[in-house]
Amino acid sequence: MTTPPAPLENDLMALKQTAQASIATATNLEDLEQIRVGYLGKKGQLSQVLGAMGKLSAEDRPRIGSLANQVKELIQEQLEQSKSALLAAQIATQLEAETLDVTMPGVFRPQGRIHPINSIIDRIVDIFVGLGYTVASGPEVESDYYNFEALNFLPDHPARDMQDTLYLPNGDLMRTHTSNVQIRYMQTHEPPLRAVAIGRCYRRDTVDATHAAVFHQIEFFAVDTAITFSDLRGTIKVFLEALYGEIPVRFRPSYFPFTEPSAEVDVQWQGKWLEVLGCGMIDPNVLKAVGYDPEVYSGFAAGLGVERLAMVQHQIDDIRRLYSSDLRFLRQF
Ligand code: DAH
Repeated sequence: MTTPPAPLENDLMALKQTAQASIATATNLEDLEQIRVGYLGKKGQLSQVLGAMGKLSAEDRPRIGSLANQVKELIQEQLEQSKSALLAAQIATQLEAETLDVTMPGVFRPQGRIHPINSIIDRIVDIFVGLGYTVASGPEVESDYYNFEALNFLPDHPARDMQDTLYLPNGDLMRTHTSNVQIRYMQTHEPPLRAVAIGRCYRRDTVDATHAAVFHQIEFFAVDTAITFSDLRGTIKVFLEALYGEIPVRFRPSYFPFTEPSAEVDVQWQGKWLEVLGCGMIDPNVLKAVGYDPEVYSGFAAGLGVERLAMVQHQIDDIRRLYSSDLRFLRQF
């Protein structure tokens, strides 16, 4: 025996069917959301049907109410299923589209190189760090005191001339050598000390094949209670051999205001003697200027031009090539 359908029962059943049918046609998540709103939203079809429940008899109401709930749950369940299926499909398409083809040719990136100046600097610093030296540095804009006065340059020394040194309007200058670091380092450290400094230096030179207004120097120095000229010679020999291998080295007497005695060092390179550095025992006046007692302490110092070394080593005929950024030139190193 079947009871005749109560009012609304058919409506609910029809709603269930059309909802199921349209869920089945949804091909993306946006469509599915619209379908959800259309059936289950506040103004959706289900709400409209339920709005009519007030007209039902007290006896039909619970049955239709529970049927409405079943329909709602069924639609919800199907919406969920369809949502997960669509999501899975979306991820699959995305994975498909983003597949990495490892056989595709790569993006070409030109390989950079270390500039010959930097490569010499790196090698020299490595050698001194290996000998236990500390890397020190100082300013390129310097006062007369650190660049000249504390280094025992007399007031009328020719290097102080406007022809040689680049002065700033306030009387400061562009350091003409890295020897300023000796003073700054010794002022702030107590012996025993060993330090190496690298940096740009500036001179008012007319630029030509062997002169640049900006160039690099490396300075190294050591101070302790019993440092002798033999320590200087030994250090320089070890350094030059680390740089060039077994090579003839000679010391020539020379003069620098900040060393006494002073020497210039040459290496024999392809049959010719080439000057590579200046050096000497730190002048007692310099030690006094930094507050060291020259009766207790002694030290040596040396300085060398990096560009010169690079030119000798790579047989470069013109210093300007090092700064022209011409890749045809730079790629040779
Ligand atoms: N400062 C010197 C120059 O610019 C190079 C130099 C020579 C540095 C002898 C030194 C040294 O420390 O002892 O030509």
